[in-house]
Amino acid sequence: MIGIFDSGYGGLTILKQIRKQLPEYDYIYLGDNARAPYGTRSFDCIYHYTLEAVRYLQQKGCTLIILACNTASAKALRTIQQHDIDPQQVRVLGVIRPTVEVVPSLTQTGHVGVLATPGTVASESYCIELQKQNDSLTVTQQACPMWVPLIEAGEHNSEGARFFIRQYVQDIIRRDPEIDTLLLGCTHYPLIQPAINDELARLGKPDCRTIAQGEIVAQSLKDYLQRHPEIEQRLQKGGECTFLTTDDADKFADAAALFLGAPVQAGHVDY
Ligand code: DGL
Repeated sequence: MIGIFDSGYGGLTILKQIRKQLPEYDYIYLGDNARAPYGTRSFDCIYHYTLEAVRYLQQKGCTLIILACNTASAKALRTIQQHDIDPQQVRVLGVIRPTVEVVPSLTQTGHVGVLATPGTVASESYCIELQKQNDSLTVTQQACPMWVPLIEAGEHNSEGARFFIRQYVQDIIRRDPEIDTLLLGCTHYPLIQPAINDELARLGKPDCRTIAQGEIVAQSLKDYLQRHPEIEQRLQKGGECTFLTTDDADKFADAAALFLGAPVQAGHVDY
């Protein structure tokens, strides 16, 4: 089984694209909604929460786990890969590596903006990894601490959300007006992508592209499975998806159904 993990609803933006490209596999989606957001928490806390989720998904039979969360990918992935898992039993992959492999080819001006959680920004992962791909890139980061809490609360279409969307987009464009590629470096942000695009247009930058990670991560996973038949062969293929949350299952199912455009049944877990 393939496990897809996020602190909350954000990973659904990745799951949706993965299931579009790889519908034949069985998936478990796990959202740690009870403890979201992760983006403002300490390194230790994010690492422990992520490790708990990985162990839980492994115990549920996942042999491949995608951390569909930039914050967890930036703060916990490497330690978990190096110290906590046996790669013969389970593989854990993140969303940052596949993204940085694609983004440099998308910019014309060489100026890339990264919108992300405070945790991802503080890790500097995107600056370091993007510049490893192309050292002439200018990378500007913007922490957006209010966006995930608004999305988790279902308030992302409100007037209050508009205020904070305007604030962070204005800020990053003011700091580097040459940005032509704006990476949504948090898997929650595609849920507000239309509002971010509206704000760019209002700032006179309608051609600035916002990049969501779903398709990029899905394509990368497809390539990974082709390169690793020994892992692919261990995956169950029934086209099923189980949804689990550490918070209220009905609330999760309603929010997920709205986003995925199909009814969803969800279960509550404690681990
Ligand atoms: N969706 C997670 C990410 O990509 C966000 C997190 C959070 O703050 O919980 O970073």
